[in-house]
Amino acid sequence: MGEPRPRPLIAGNWKMNGRRSDGIALAKAIVAEAGSLGAELLVCPPATLIAPVGEAVKGTAVALGGQDCHPAPSGAHTGDISAPMLVDLGCRYVIVGHSERRAEHGESDALVKAKAEAALAAGLSPIVCLGETEAERDLGEALAVVTRQLLGSLPAGASGARTVVAYEPVWAIGTGRTPSARDIEVVHGHLRRELATLVADAGAVRLLYGGSVKAGNAKEILALADVDGALVGGASLKAEEFLAIARACP
Ligand code: PGA
Repeated sequence: MGEPRPRPLIAGNWKMNGRRSDGIALAKAIVAEAGSLGAELLVCPPATLIAPVGEAVKGTAVALGGQDCHPAPSGAHTGDISAPMLVDLGCRYVIVGHSERRAEHGESDALVKAKAEAALAAGLSPIVCLGETEAERDLGEALAVVTRQLLGSLPAGASGARTVVAYEPVWAIGTGRTPSARDIEVVHGHLRRELATLVADAGAVRLLYGGSVKAGNAKEILALADVDGALVGGASLKAEEFLAIARACP
């Protein structure tokens, strides 16, 4: 109580979008405005663009992150990228356990946890994603699902300084639909209380909301209790929209 809120984090998840020229232009447009903002800004380009976007944001107020990493530091894992490789390109964050990877690549909580632990070991801050499906919400299971995912995916050694948790209801991702303000607060408050049983400085762990965040709804969402920023997909591909979300931070 009365603790200062952590500095908000506005993270852009570009997913599988962008050619080299698009990515560099987007990064430069974000960099141009980033210095004047209170929130911390992060861009997570697709793997092919991490190096050139990294050059564009190097030495600026915009941080760089990956969208996934393998649990192992190196080895025979065709197509995968390790956490130390992301560090080598200047990344400070990596998204793990995004619902698209959980669904399309069958990622389990245990695998997500191993990825998050690999990220910590390499010096990255993992952004651990979780969230219920629409069917689970309709069954009244949202809190049970996110609790199970949090307990199963949070890395050993998680701390406020080095771990971020993103609540992203699957049914709100890319759909233009969002939970009510009250529903977001209920889940975030619940996650904070669960975190308090797992992490010494739970109040400092940034809890992001993700799923159809845009300039038009950011102010209301970012003002909610226990919402410490946003993980933004579609709206992060337009510099003005992404910056408007960042400016909406309280
Ligand atoms: P969206 O995606 O903002 O396009 O809904 C969010 C996410 O998947 O991280």
